[in-house]
Formats: sequence, structure tokens, C-alpha cells
Amino acid sequence: MRIYLDHNATTPLRPEVIEAMCAALRDVPGNPSSVHAEGAAARAAVETARERVAAAIGAAPETIVFTSGATESNNAAIHSALAAARPKERRTIVTTATEHPSVSEPLASLETRGWRVVRLGVDRDGLIDPDAFAAALGSDTALAAILWANNETGVVQPVRRLVELAHEHGVPVHVDATQCIGKLPVDAATLGADTLAASSHKQNGPKGVGLLYLRPGATFEPLLRGGGQERRRRGGTESVAGIVGLGVACELVRREGPARAARMAALRDRLWNGIREKIQGARRNGSATAVLANTLSVGLPGAPGDVLLAALDLDGVAVSAGAACHSGSVAPSRTLLAMGLTADEARCSLRMSVGHGVDEAQIDRVLAILPDLVARVRESAA
Ligand SMILES: Cc1ncc(COP(=O)(O)O)c(C=O)c1O
Repeated sequence: MRIYLDHNATTPLRPEVIEAMCAALRDVPGNPSSVHAEGAAARAAVETARERVAAAIGAAPETIVFTSGATESNNAAIHSALAAARPKERRTIVTTATEHPSVSEPLASLETRGWRVVRLGVDRDGLIDPDAFAAALGSDTALAAILWANNETGVVQPVRRLVELAHEHGVPVHVDATQCIGKLPVDAATLGADTLAASSHKQNGPKGVGLLYLRPGATFEPLLRGGGQERRRRGGTESVAGIVGLGVACELVRREGPARAARMAALRDRLWNGIREKIQGARRNGSATAVLANTLSVGLPGAPGDVLLAALDLDGVAVSAGAACHSGSVAPSRTLLAMGLTADEARCSLRMSVGHGVDEAQIDRVLAILPDLVARVRESAA
């Protein structure tokens, strides 16, 4: 029986999600844009999902646009904000040095086309300084783009304060909340961000579906045009079964409330306490308080993360040596380097993220095998 501790990369589908998706695939063949009964049934399925998603993030249904995932949502939000900016007056984008590539890469591409990108550093805890953020905002700032919770370290930025500061400077804010739903309270309306991106597969929904929240009343310039779907905000026939799955996943988040995160935190703390006790030199990367309930990034000096990952995999345990959504490379994590870790410290790090299906016995099994593996890897790496 394998032990899956890589829930920040993706999560297994909950049985309720699979059932609802199978029913939609089987029983809802229509195109939501068609006006006949089959079309109306597909439209109804999409709109029920929209209500569920909206309820899970404290938003009104009409503020939700379905997308193909958070990568598209992030790209669409950046595209729209810059299309609305007056290019001659507002050429600067303020962001952080620890964004997910679905934000950092579009911004790097814009930089080559004349936009100025200010990337704020983070401290040893992985947090950006709100005063430095405020100081970076000016009358030339077109957009602030902030990662709410980091996928590698789980570090949670003081996003509400950052949104307030940006708005005090008249700057629109995009928040990447992909890692947040189900792990911390997300209330889009009170957060006040202009746009907010999230994905389905980080909270037990299917892959290839996401959402973009748009602040009520905000203008929006679509990235994908054609077909007029999603109230002309995202062209393309909707992935009906995927959207239904996302809806059920969000309904489960809403129903389970804070108990879900509390359970994750208990498992994560059990793991960290065991590691700290049993593995000499182990240290935690990033804030231990401003952190997602399910995430543990640990430094294990002398034990390269990629070697440990392979050894754990052979023993039936799935973890990540860095950012698994884009892993496969042995380059040290950008996020850990930005926090001031050396390349060696960053390389000798592991990310373990818990979620649905993980229990105490699995954590204890990992704690039974990890110390020995670390000792062996340290010996062979020495
Ligand atoms: C913080 C963050 N943003 C964006 C993404 C991209 O999401 P998706 O896989 O839905 O495109 C991910 C994960 O892959 C992520 O962790």
C-alpha cells in the first residue's frame, strides 16, 4: 500500500467527485450552449457547480469563470489587468520572487516586451515585507500579483494586508490562491482582490479544470475568445464533467469546514515532531506559523532531496524534492534560494504534503523508515 504525501502537487479524487463526474459523463451529453433539453441539462449542471464553487470561496456565482486550470486563470488575470492599464502611464508590475511559474513566466515574457517587473524578496521565513511592498507601489504600477500560499513551502503571505495596501495606491491585485482552498478560509468578497485564481485538482477535484474569480463590477478582457461562453469571459466549450467534479470537491470543502484543515495540521505536526526527534540536523524551511495546514518543507543536511525522493519512492512513499508541478530538474528551488538558503541547503530539502487518505499509521510508517534512509543517503553522499 503506497503512502502519498504529495498533495500540493495534486490530490486523489474523492469518491463523491468520481461518482458525480461519471454520472455527468454518462447522463449529460449536451453542450451547455445549446438551447434544446440536452443543452439545458448541461447548462444546469455547470450552473450548479458554479454555485458550489462560489459558496466555497465566499463569492457570488456570477463572479466565477471556469478555466482549464490555475495556469490559465493566472495568465488570463494578468492579460486582463494589463489590457486595462494605460501602457504609457502604468508599465510596472509588482510581484514576489517566489511566484509559481504560471505567474513568473508570463511576467518574465512581458518584461522582454518592455514591461517593468519588480520582484520583491522574502525573508528567511518566506514572507514578504508589507512595507517593502507598499514602497514598491507607485502611480506607474499596473498590477500587483501575489502568491497567497507557496506551493513548495506552504508559507502564507499576509494577503489581506497586501490587497489593502495595493488598493490604497490604486493598484489592482491578482491573487494566486491555488494552494489555499480547503486548507485555509478563502473569502473572496472580503479579501477584496480584483482577481483570484484556483485549481480543481489541489482539493480532490479533477485535473484540467480551474476557476478565476472576478471582483464584481470589474472590467475583464478575455484571454480566450470565441464562442462567447462563460458570459463572454472565456471562449471554449465547457468541460462539463470536470466542472461538475470541481463543484462537488468545493461542496465537500464547504461542508467539512475548518475540520479538514485541522486534521491535516495534526498529521503534518505528527510528521514534523517525529522528524525533529529522530533525524539529527533536520530543520524546517519557512515560517512554522504562517503556513498551510498540510505542508512541511524540511531541510535534511547532507541528504540530497532527489536521492531521498527516489529511495522513498522505492519504499512506497511519494514526496517531492521541490515544486513537483514542475519538477524533473535537479536545479535548487527558486523559492528556497529566495529565502536565503544556500544551493546545498535547498537541494537537501524535501516537501511533504498531506491530505485526504493520509492517516496516523501512514505517518508513523514514514517516521519508521525515513531516519534510516537519511542516514544511508548521508553516508553515500559524504
Ligand atoms: C500555486 C500554484 N499556482 C498555479 C498552479 C497551476 O495549477 P494548474 O495545475 O491547475 O494549472 C499550481 C500547481 O500546479 C500551484 O501550486
